[in-house]
Amino acid sequence: MDLRDTIRSTGAVRSFRADPVDDAIVAAVLDDARFAPSGGNKQPWRIAVVSDPATRQAMADLMRPVWEEYMGAQAAGHRAFAYGRSVDAPPLPTPNALIDNIVAVPVVLAVAANLGDIAIMDGNADRPPVVGGASIYPFCWNVLLAARAHGLGGVMTTFLSRAEAAARPLLGLPADHALVATIFLGVPEHQNTKLARRPVEAFTTVDRFDGHPFAATPRVAH
Ligand SMILES: Cc1cc2nc3c(=O)[nH]c(=O)nc-3n(C[C@H](O)[C@H](O)[C@H](O)COP(=O)(O)O)c2cc1C
Repeated sequence: MDLRDTIRSTGAVRSFRADPVDDAIVAAVLDDARFAPSGGNKQPWRIAVVSDPATRQAMADLMRPVWEEYMGAQAAGHRAFAYGRSVDAPPLPTPNALIDNIVAVPVVLAVAANLGDIAIMDGNADRPPVVGGASIYPFCWNVLLAARAHGLGGVMTTFLSRAEAAARPLLGLPADHALVATIFLGVPEHQNTKLARRPVEAFTTVDRFDGHPFAATPRVAH
């Protein structure tokens, strides 16, 4: 596929055909994904390819309360887990194709990042740090793009990060590593290619974030 078409049409896939995915394909996807950039080229990623059904089910059992907390907040009109906002809404039991069917999902990847290898440039800001994630999430996105190139689809999820302490012994996560994502992959039931995304002018301004809207038309010199 053309690169531009691919980045414009790789939507999240949360339901998969029963077709198994060979380990050789998973290895090939990871072999492509490893070319992701990272700060200082430290490549802080670690992957557990989780195939054990009991481990998967235990992961799902940890994800479910997080999902229900998320849906409860959304139902109450809040953005769940947003910085600076505490939400006092009851959890809302809701079906979830990934959590409910985790044992049947063809590929489940737990992704960890070695915190000792990440330069957290905003680590001393008086807000939660986010820059460190930039050394690991391009890799995660590469996994999804590479999967597409191999005829697969999938989605990156972060439910389990909220239950990291409980997931740590389950997955043998080292003490100095963070659990950053669980990626689900398989042959898509349907690949969503029509993506709802805001247009450039909705998020781009000139010189400053409170500047004039950026437009591709010629600008008046200042
Ligand atoms: C950092 C990150 C975290 C996400 N976490 C979840 C998640 O926990 N569960 C889930 O179902 N999808 C998760 N997603 C997938 C998003 O919901 C999805 O990318 C977004 O809604 C766009 O969907 P679309 O590609 O179908 O348009 C996550 C995506 C990213 C990039």
